[in-house]
Amino acid sequence: MSLKEIRVKARELAKGTCRVCPVCDGRACAGEVPGMGGTGTGLSFVNNITALRAIYLNTRLIHKVHFPNTEIEILGFKLKSPLMIAPIGGIAFNLGQAMPEAAYQEAIAFGAVDAGIIAGTPDAAPMEVMEIGLAQAKALGSGLTMPFIKPWELERIKIELEMCAAAGSKVVCCDLDSVGLITLRLMGHPAYPKDAGELAKIVAAARQLGLKFLIKGVMSLQDALICQEAGVDGLVISNHGGRVLDGVPGVAQVLPAIARKLKGQIKLLVDGGIRSGVDILKMLALGADAVMVGRPFAIAAIGGGREGVTLFAETLRSQLEQAMIMTGCPEVAAANEDLLWRAE
Ligand SMILES: Cc1cc2nc3c(=O)[nH]c(=O)nc-3n(C[C@H](O)[C@H](O)[C@H](O)COP(=O)(O)O)c2cc1C
Repeated sequence: MSLKEIRVKARELAKGTCRVCPVCDGRACAGEVPGMGGTGTGLSFVNNITALRAIYLNTRLIHKVHFPNTEIEILGFKLKSPLMIAPIGGIAFNLGQAMPEAAYQEAIAFGAVDAGIIAGTPDAAPMEVMEIGLAQAKALGSGLTMPFIKPWELERIKIELEMCAAAGSKVVCCDLDSVGLITLRLMGHPAYPKDAGELAKIVAAARQLGLKFLIKGVMSLQDALICQEAGVDGLVISNHGGRVLDGVPGVAQVLPAIARKLKGQIKLLVDGGIRSGVDILKMLALGADAVMVGRPFAIAAIGGGREGVTLFAETLRSQLEQAMIMTGCPEVAAANEDLLWRAE
């Protein structure tokens, strides 16, 4: 099975809901939420791509980096590359019934672990979606997934945190930006923003269960600092792949200011528009500790199942390794803005 074959199969199964474009850049699917696109004009999704395209790496060839080390340890996970699979919920609903939810989450979670990385599993209005993800956590053991919780009212969050702990999870993330998701409103289960006090209570509830806790969807330094104050272990700087608010910048534009303040204090994950190992290295250079990739893994899972997911993850890892050789970067922790090209 090649990535090309996987894409052909995915295109067939998606029945036009995802065109499986040569580059997944948010243009063909603009406005398609539900679907795979970005909300409104689709600009926030497109901006993720263009922001990364506007950044260049600095070629460095006089050095001794022959075998760069792509492995990292983060949040208690040992990963073969600084890569995780972003949670994608409602795959059947958003992708033309291309694959049942359970089969999708299984392909993603197991394919990730086969490649030495981990996957995020989603939450949705029906609690069964979270249960499907947690079934993968139990089957894999050792907390080898990262469950995501929607910003429901406090009581449901606490129940879901307990479900995660019971499934053996060690790290849980709340996608706070889901407050902007039209799909939750369509299903009659809106989620709400949290104030600093509520956030601190949620972090404390996670701590009591021995869970590390992250917030996903942070797109401003102000929110990032409040999250840090509330005691989170990390952030996922993300605009939800452009699905929750039209007209926001690309994630690569927002990351540096947050990294300048918080790098080294809490873990900084990032997602949105990352399509290659080169893109991963750019995000590391801008200050991320690790990245998540969303839609391209959905395509890999639909077209190639568990093996497709593993193959795509390994492709990204080897592209990253090559980019590290070409920029003289010996290990992930050594990536910084010196890897970026600047006009003299
Ligand atoms: C169809 C679809 C469903 C998604 N579901 C979730 C979800 O349940 N929870 C979540 O935190 N993010 C969700 N996301 C956002 C992704 O986790 C991720 O932030 C985004 O896809 C990253 O951008 P990329 O697809 O350009 O890599 C979803 C994205 C898509 C396209």
